Amino acid sequence: MLSSLKKQPADRIIGLSALYNADPRDTKIDLGVGVYKDAGGNTPIMRAIKTAEQRLWNEETTKTYTAMIGDGGFHNAMADLIFADSVDRSRVSFCATPGGTGAVHHVIELVKMTGTGAKVWFSDPTWGNHLSIAKHVNVPVEKYTYFDAKNRSVNFDGMISDLEKVASGDVVVLHGCCHNPTGANLNKAQWGQVAELLLAKGAIPFIDIAYQGFGDGLEEDAYGTRLLAGMFPEMFIAASCSKNFGIYRERCGLIIALSADAGTSAITQGNLAYVNRQNFSFPPDHGARLVTMVLTDPELRADWAAELEEVRLGMLNARQKLAQALQAECGSDRFGFLAEHRGMFSRIGATEAQVDQLRDEHAIYMVFDGRLNIAGVTVDKIDTIAKAVIAVGI
Ligand code: LMR
Repeated sequence: MLSSLKKQPADRIIGLSALYNADPRDTKIDLGVGVYKDAGGNTPIMRAIKTAEQRLWNEETTKTYTAMIGDGGFHNAMADLIFADSVDRSRVSFCATPGGTGAVHHVIELVKMTGTGAKVWFSDPTWGNHLSIAKHVNVPVEKYTYFDAKNRSVNFDGMISDLEKVASGDVVVLHGCCHNPTGANLNKAQWGQVAELLLAKGAIPFIDIAYQGFGDGLEEDAYGTRLLAGMFPEMFIAASCSKNFGIYRERCGLIIALSADAGTSAITQGNLAYVNRQNFSFPPDHGARLVTMVLTDPELRADWAAELEEVRLGMLNARQKLAQALQAECGSDRFGFLAEHRGMFSRIGATEAQVDQLRDEHAIYMVFDGRLNIAGVTVDKIDTIAKAVIAVGI
């Protein structure tokens, strides 16, 4: 039986980490998978998370099941973080999931369960796993133009003209902030225009917010999500705590669904619980409990926010320094976009052959589509990276 399975393609982001780990060169530089690294190349446990873990160890008295949709305290703390007061909570239903990926998967599954045949629209490009999950769940997919590869900025006219084709009831996936893989993001006016258009079309926005706090700040990064949440009768959000709480392996994510009224919201809530039950019953709890503790304890929250801000500013500094080093190296400001982009990633315009050359000749690892993880660009490596990027002809 198993011999009839077809070979699956290796995940092109996660597979890269294995290649990197196997590389014996001690000069190697990892700009691949979206994991934060400090100046020493380590992915630290955030101070507030470490304290919360100690506290949890002391205080937790049981490991019995939580609710099928996860713990209510987690839902509320995350809703406060993401929405502030932009939405009436009686229309909101929740579902804790294994990571933001679990949330993306379940929302797409829920869309399929509605039986409406809704198409799911993704930006072109988008996080590779978005498309892969949609294919796996077997929903119809469409793509909308997003990136101007020449200027490495948002192709807003192209985006709007493609979104004009969205049908009523279709689901449109938007990256809440820190677009993955491009690093190019909508400004406030553009968020407003997209919102008006999708509302007029009767579309349902689905915001994937995996990097809140990595772009322009915790509040600023929620701008688009809050704007849309205040406008749309129905909307989905997939949130991840992997990056901004640094708890990647705890698999901590959340679905937030907005329904038109409280009655529909109760039905949505039941369906979300059903989806969890059919897939794995209860969501992981440890990470969610840590996040809840951090968000609801003023001292821990302040410390977490301060550390996250240090991380954000560090990445911003790396962006500016790399743009400067590249300017010095190539004598033009054609890499100025690096300082304009936000979040962990920038798509720098490398061909797949140039990405291979960077890996083979310079031991620099980035994703095949030319996506670079700015968190891997530590100060001591900036000149090496800039020289290599120019040497391979990017
Ligand atoms: C990434 O895009 O590198 C991260 O979201 C990690 C992943 O699972 O792909």
